[in-house]
Amino acid sequence: MPPSVLSDQTPRSTYSAQANDPPIGTVPPMGSFGAVASTDQSSTASARNQKALKPIIVSLQQVSKLYGKSSKALDNVNWQVRQGDFWFVTGPSGAGKSTLLKLLYGAERSTHGDVLVNSHNLSRIKGNKMSLLRRQIGVVFQDYKLIPRRTVSENVAFVLWAQGFTRKEIHRRLLPTLRMVGLHDKANRFPDELSGGEQQRVSIARAIVGTPPILLADEPTGNLDVHNSWQVIKILKKLNSIGITVIITTHDEQLVRMSNHPVVQLRDGRLHQMRDWELGRT
Ligand SMILES: Nc1ncnc2c1ncn2[C@@H]1O[C@H](COP(=O)(O)OP(=O)(O)OP(=O)(O)O)[C@@H](O)[C@H]1O
Ligand SMILES: [Mg+2]
Repeated sequence: MPPSVLSDQTPRSTYSAQANDPPIGTVPPMGSFGAVASTDQSSTASARNQKALKPIIVSLQQVSKLYGKSSKALDNVNWQVRQGDFWFVTGPSGAGKSTLLKLLYGAERSTHGDVLVNSHNLSRIKGNKMSLLRRQIGVVFQDYKLIPRRTVSENVAFVLWAQGFTRKEIHRRLLPTLRMVGLHDKANRFPDELSGGEQQRVSIARAIVGTPPILLADEPTGNLDVHNSWQVIKILKKLNSIGITVIITTHDEQLVRMSNHPVVQLRDGRLHQMRDWELGRT
């Protein structure tokens, strides 16, 4: 990261909301992390109705993905995610979980079918629009992908700097985000001075510091012990409670069973919605 990341030399933002942009959703302004979304609906029924009315933020329509000519990673997948949902995607190794997320954050394109994210059809979107859309999607990986010779603060600030945020805005966002993941006292540490759980929390901070309405996490607990896995899940739940739509892939059956979030399973590229009894949930 250039030294200017925390100086006044940062370029001006290259993106401001356009009149014809789709609504970003219900993500609160930065600095409000920690505050749980207000729930003034008095009855569960009205809360349920409210949920039913939430717009669809991710939609896969008859999506197939082939690598090369014969390797079918996804096979005719149909799936809809509403704003504010929290989904687990499970399935054995090679079932297509990472491929599914890659289609959502634009690292791969579908071979057939349409992938819609925040009303944009990713199967057709052009380069510049894709990079703007990517800013609306936070991504967390199993192996953290932190910059080794940069501090926690710099790793998190880098995303904002790259997007042209001012120094003032970067500073305004940094501390609440680090506090949100419980790392405000480690802001000046380097990644190799942190535990795996802490490194993963830095990567979550980096993914959310730009307040994206969607957070995708590909096996975020894959390298963590039980305690750290639950810490990560707790943070993701908190983010979800303030309106961020969360989609997380995992192998961890216990984690899935002990959560109350909906689950889809991929098997050989085909998507199935799982019922509670299939998951061993009581
Ligand atoms: N870049 C690629 N080129 C060719 N085949 C690929 C590529 N990426 C994935 N595949 C294949 O697509 C299928 C799905 O892979 P994917 O990585 O999505 O699975 P996964 O469910 O994430 O597995 P894991 O749990 O091991 O991470 C696999 O058969 C894999 O070998
Ligand atoms: Mg994977």
